[in-house]
Amino acid sequence: KSPFKNAAVLSDSYSSEASKLADIEWDNLGFGLLPTDYMYMMKCSQGGNFSKGELQRFGNIELNPSAGVLNYGQGLFEGLKAYRKEDGNILLFRPEENALRMRQGAERMCMPAPTVDQFVEAVKETVLANKRWVPPPGKGSLYIRPLLMGSGAVLGLAPAPEYTFLIYVSPVGNYFKEGVAPINLIVEHELHRATPGGTGGVKTIGNYAAVLKAQSAAKAKGYSDVLYLDCVHKKYLEEVSSCNIFVVKGDVISTPAIKGTILPGITRKSIIDVARSQGFQVEERFVPVDELLDADEVFCTGTAVVVSPVGSITYKGKRVSYGVDGFGAVAQQLYSVLTRLQMGLIDDKMDWTVEL
Ligand code: COI
Repeated sequence: KSPFKNAAVLSDSYSSEASKLADIEWDNLGFGLLPTDYMYMMKCSQGGNFSKGELQRFGNIELNPSAGVLNYGQGLFEGLKAYRKEDGNILLFRPEENALRMRQGAERMCMPAPTVDQFVEAVKETVLANKRWVPPPGKGSLYIRPLLMGSGAVLGLAPAPEYTFLIYVSPVGNYFKEGVAPINLIVEHELHRATPGGTGGVKTIGNYAAVLKAQSAAKAKGYSDVLYLDCVHKKYLEEVSSCNIFVVKGDVISTPAIKGTILPGITRKSIIDVARSQGFQVEERFVPVDELLDADEVFCTGTAVVVSPVGSITYKGKRVSYGVDGFGAVAQQLYSVLTRLQMGLIDDKMDWTVEL
């Protein structure tokens, strides 16, 4: 069945192109953009509603130099993944959660947003149109990147008069160059990612530009990424540039509470539920940086990173290491349950997956 609702010109090529796997080396996917076949576009004026969108060939887009997103950063993004099952069907993981988070972010950034149904339908159409790019089972996933941006022209500071919702996709493997090996973090105690009352709790594009300086400095020193502290007390853990953080001590797993400066990760929320279902006690609270000193394990979660074990954390020149090598037992257990669920290898009692 063609996924195209309104693009008759495209549907001819669909059946032949989409029915087979793309001819690429599937064994060594990293986290970089591989251009695929189609992207989804939908537009709306300020104060209006998004009407029907359409698939078009993946490629560059045209923007007025005065577009709100280019000049004033009026933009949001999302990230979710599709996995190919052994039977060839595709599974999405909690796409309605991304739709809801985009709507919350749009409210903060003064943008109209697609409805949950429009968002989920657009994701499904885009994935089906690019089906040949969904990696074979066990080789990775199709990363889905929805964008919402002020595409209309503004000069004085104001919400843009027009908005574009766009989805593109790329096959991906592991996020960190370490693969599934533990990553080494450094705690940043001068630069901050977010402030109370700011936009740290929504997935706006500027939050990610703001971490590049500290991240680049950390990478230049050989660290994998940066762990941020709160900007008021400079004492409580917040998150890593691209993922949330969890600290394990015995049977208790702690993670910073969502309080406006932390991105409410969908993997974070899912791991909390998985951990509780596995008998762990999970605490969402202020987690002082000192607790890193006597933690048994530390791990990160995110759509891109999935569950990533932390091998060491350096804070003010002092390095604390966790485990010997590989995953800690708790992170391994949670990773295994979550990914088997996402790939359709275990029963989805949570009703989190959507099959295409
Ligand atoms: C994701 O995990 O999907 C993210 O949005 C993080 C991004 C920096 C890759």
